[in-house]
Amino acid sequence: MVSTAEYTIVPITMAHLEDFRSAVDSVAREKKYLSFLEGPPFAMSKAFVEENIKGSWPHVVAIADGAVVGWCDITSLNRPVYAHCGELGIGVIPSSRGKGIGKALMIDALRRAKEKGLERVELTVFEKNVPAIALYQQLGFVIEGKKKSAVKIDGQYDDLICMALRFDDVENEHHDKKILEELKSREPIFHHPDKFGRTEHDILNQICDEFWEVGASGNVYTKEVVLSTLLERYNDPNYKDIWEAKDFALTRIAQDNYLLTYTLIQDKTRLTKRSTLWRRENGAWKILYHQGTVVS
Ligand SMILES: CC(C)(COP(=O)(O)OP(=O)(O)OC[C@H]1O[C@@H](n2cnc3c(N)ncnc32)[C@H](O)[C@@H]1OP(=O)(O)O)[C@@H](O)C(=O)NCCC(=O)NCCS
Repeated sequence: MVSTAEYTIVPITMAHLEDFRSAVDSVAREKKYLSFLEGPPFAMSKAFVEENIKGSWPHVVAIADGAVVGWCDITSLNRPVYAHCGELGIGVIPSSRGKGIGKALMIDALRRAKEKGLERVELTVFEKNVPAIALYQQLGFVIEGKKKSAVKIDGQYDDLICMALRFDDVENEHHDKKILEELKSREPIFHHPDKFGRTEHDILNQICDEFWEVGASGNVYTKEVVLSTLLERYNDPNYKDIWEAKDFALTRIAQDNYLLTYTLIQDKTRLTKRSTLWRRENGAWKILYHQGTVVS
């Protein structure tokens, strides 16, 4: 159960049936968002809710002031080949929109879908439904296609956007964001002696055996040259290290191998583009290759 001062989100029960129907009916009658123009008949709604409860399909409702003000369901596609998928439907009555209820409903329903073992959740949405598309994208849904002029209400056409979320993709994205943060904290490379140490052993711990670098000067630096330069630099009390790093982008090249690119401004004047190939060896990040290119 999710509870705030304004609303509570709970799994639907048969006691919510009438209220759920009336919420669906009110959103359907807006004729702008749903693929039906009024709430389904009582028997159909009853069978729908019973089926969801019986099959433990995620179906949650938001309650405010004792009434159902929104719902989110993720239901079966009713074919063995689609057994790993669910189809999402959602709605919040007009007076309760824009208060975080839709998002909270979806987060709760998606959590239940994942717990149920679903791998993919899909939906269709009218192209003109900008708030819903924004919500879906925010929660990791991606656009997979478009059915042109698939909707016609009162003579007006709209395209139908097909969207889906795969839990694996969301996890991978989350994982890559975490890695980006880890690697950003190590860049620019060799400029964090306080964090990663200043001895020969500390420096060698940060680089792969095969490491080499092409400096922004265009010169090639071997591991040995980099090591002696850094030892000298770290022991020079007059060495001034002024830099700003930004525009980080991470690309996974292979398992445990990442390309990190960014912009570096040194001494407030020297602008270079940087690329570091990072490799994770035995749980530790090491630099395989680095390159700098002067931009201005
Ligand atoms: C889509 C809907 C469920 C969103 O519910 P809601 O409670 O109003 O949304 P929330 O307040 O939780 O907002 C969640 C996100 O939705 C998006 N959103 C909400 N209202 C928006 C608006 N007016 N314009 C653009 N984006 C909007 C934003 O991404 C927002 O995230 P943010 O607050 O971090 O910016 C609701 O507008 C609704 O019921 N619409 C009619 C029915 C419908 O469209 N169902 C879906 C059919 S596919």
